[in-house]
Parts: sequence; structure tokens; C-alpha cells
Amino acid sequence: MSARDLELVLFGATGFTGRLVAEYLAVHVPDGVRVGLAGRSQQKLESLRAGLPSRGRSWPLLEADSADADSLDAVARRARVLCTTVGPYAKYGLPVVAACAKAGTHYTDLAGEVQFMRDSIDAWNAEAQRTGARIVHSCGFDSIPSDVGPWLLHHELGAMKRVTYVVEALKGGFSGGTYASMLNALEEAGKDRRKLRALADPHALSPDRAKEPDLGPQRDQTGFSYDGFVGRWTGPFVMEPINTRVVRRTNALLGYAYGRNLRYREVSGIPRGLKGLGVAARLAGLGVASLGLLFWPTRRLLARALPKPGEGPSEEARRTGRLRVRTFGEAEGGRRASVVIEGQGDPGYQLTAMMLSQASLALVLDLDRLPKRAGVLTPVTAMGDVLVERLRRAGMTLTVESP
Ligand SMILES: NC(=O)c1ccc[n+]([C@@H]2O[C@H](COP(=O)([O-])OP(=O)(O)OC[C@H]3O[C@@H](n4cnc5c(N)ncnc54)[C@H](OP(=O)(O)O)[C@@H]3O)[C@@H](O)[C@H]2O)c1
Repeated sequence: MSARDLELVLFGATGFTGRLVAEYLAVHVPDGVRVGLAGRSQQKLESLRAGLPSRGRSWPLLEADSADADSLDAVARRARVLCTTVGPYAKYGLPVVAACAKAGTHYTDLAGEVQFMRDSIDAWNAEAQRTGARIVHSCGFDSIPSDVGPWLLHHELGAMKRVTYVVEALKGGFSGGTYASMLNALEEAGKDRRKLRALADPHALSPDRAKEPDLGPQRDQTGFSYDGFVGRWTGPFVMEPINTRVVRRTNALLGYAYGRNLRYREVSGIPRGLKGLGVAARLAGLGVASLGLLFWPTRRLLARALPKPGEGPSEEARRTGRLRVRTFGEAEGGRRASVVIEGQGDPGYQLTAMMLSQASLALVLDLDRLPKRAGVLTPVTAMGDVLVERLRRAGMTLTVESP
């Protein structure tokens, strides 16, 4: 078999999210793009492939295990782009990044694990820059909508002093793999104070921590309060501790084009009236459950009740899910604008499968139009406007509104 005979390899196709990505690709990949499916069990791969839409049924299968570096090197050398849904990433991800960085293979994933991304930057950014590999973490609901909002606002407003992402509607579920990743991150942080501090640092993913501006405390929101800037009551948003780190990395990699003194936050919007009470109660419940995850006895109890790896929201729940976020921005001179991002389908799974597939296809098909950067990147620094165009063509609404 010749080198780079495959344009795109999906690693982890047998998992819950991996199967959704395989199904999406089998319908949406243009003719002539050569795709392969990789996983640790040939038998599971064969049965997954047999259930795919017709175009996917002829895709080659590649056996690889993240504990076997040689098998990963072999896959990375055959692919131009490797897209991985093998998680928890902190457990299985770094050897995959290593194989791609060494081979100059572009890489996409769904990581929402800050410590894993920090380790990836520290260990493999320099090598990926040397080989030209674009290593792009967080190409799903975490953190594409977050990353794209400030990018579009920057087009409209230039340098900004504050940007706030408000979740206005969110209907969706969680898979066993996502819970496993959250539990693993908490367990690791519990064992290692350095990791706990890293998770709390607002600039945890900075390319050069010493050069970050000193903006005073930039705490993630934990309670409920009225926010005059966005004109509504707000509560915590569970993904804020991840997405904010990604957006701040984007700003730093862009040479602080969004503003050297930008303050970026993410919150849940609380609707007025009775509906608002319901949303606030749900968020408070989620907060209590998250606290439970911090302590091992309650963590064990919760783990028994949660979906297991391979399980996730039903087909109907995925189809009827929905996302609407509005990102508010204020320019350094005081001008304001906002960006509305909307999508139909469960954000964490249906929309995520689309976003990860489109990000991977941008690296396969649009390379000559992408920013000339390599190393460990964010979705926006890797793909910029090409990603926005692809999301729009795939059915997402991204609208800039200025007063
Ligand atoms: N960023 C986002 O918005 C977002 C959204 C959804 C999911 N995620 C993340 O995506 C990841 C996957 O979630 P999921 O629910 O799809 O998990 P899952 O169903 O448990 O799937 C995990 C996959 O990893 C494979 N795997 C496990 N150990 C492996 C190894 N040593 N070598 C090779 N493959 C191995 C499994 O293979 P087998 O089938 O052989 O067991 C399976 O294909 C999680 O980290 C989750 O947090 C992120």
C-alpha cells in the first residue's frame, strides 16, 4: 500500500460519537475522497461498516490501538487527516497526537479536557510546527460555537474589551464517553494539585503564559446574577471552564487581534418568569451533581446511574435537540454587536458529528485556503472563515447583528 493512500481516517468509529461521525461522512463526503475507518477491533469495525449508508460500506478498515504506538504510526503515515473520537482523551489521546505530529498528518478531535490539551501543546506543538501538522482539538460543541462567535464579532468590531457567550436554548443529552472523560479529568485533578491549578487557570492553554495580560480575576461563573451587559439574568454554563480557555488561546495565537485586554465569559441565559425558575433549578441540580462528582463515594454512586461507554442519547433525542447561543461583543471604542448561532439537533452529538466532520473535511479539501499555520491550534486559528462557510453550508445559522 502506498504512503498517504487515504485522505481521511476516522479513529474510534465504533464508539457512540464515532458511529455518528461515520454515518455523517458516508452521506456528505464528496465522491473521490478516500476515507478509512480505524479502531482496535476488526470485528467491531466490520459490523459498524455493514450498517453505514452505502458509500461507507466499501471503506477500508485499519486496526490500531492507542496503547500500540507502532499501529498509530502506521495509520498516521497512511492518512492526510486523522480524526479521532477515541476518548477519554487524557487516557488515550496523547499517543495519537504524537503519531500525527511526527508524521506531519493533520489531526482533529472532540477533546473537552483542558489538561490533555495542555499536555498536547507542551509535548507536541514544536514537533507539529516542524512537520507542518495542524493539530486541532475541540472540534465539536466544545468548542466550535464558542470559538467562532468572537471571530465573527472581531470582523465587525475590531479589537474588543468584552465578549460574553450566552446559551439561550440548549436541548440535548450526554453519552457514556463524555461522562467517562469528565470523571477521568476530576480523578486526575484530585490526585495531582498541579493539574487542579492548571484547570483553574483562565489562560491554561496559553502559548506563552508569561505574556498574557494581567486582567485581575477572571473567575468562571458559579452563581446566578443579573448581567447588565447582556441585559438578562444569567447562571453558570458547565462548559465555560473549557471553552473560555480555547477562545483565549485563539486570541493569543492571533497576536491578541481580539484585544489585549479582552474579557471573555460564558453563561447560561435564564428566561423570564416560571420557565426561568425551571432553568435555574435544572442548573442548580447540575451544579450539585457536579459537586458530587468531586468526591469518590458520590462519584461511584453517580457512575452507576450514568450511561456507560458506547451509550448515549436516543435517535429521537438527537434529532429533536437544539442549540441557540448569542455572543455579545463590545469594541474598545464602545460599539456593540452580537452573533447568533443556531442549529437543529442535539448539540453534543448530532451537531457535533457534523462540526467534527466539516472541520476534518476543511483540512482535506480546503488546505490552500486555510491560514498558513501549524502546531497545536484551535478551530478558528486552523480554519477561520473556511470553517464558518462550511458550518453555514451544513445548515447552521450564524448571523451577525449590529444595532
Ligand atoms: N467536544 C464535544 O462536544 C464532545 C461531544 C461528544 C463527545 N465528546 C468526547 O468524545 C469522546 C468519545 O465519546 P463517546 O461517547 O463516543 O465514547 P465511547 O462511546 O465510549 O467511544 C470511545 C471509543 O474509543 C475507543 N477506544 C477506547 N480505548 C481504545 C484504545 N485503547 N485504542 C483504540 N480505541 C479505543 C472505543 O473502541 P471500542 O468500540 O473498541 O470500545 C470507542 O470506539 C469522549 O472523550 C467525549 O468526551 C466530546
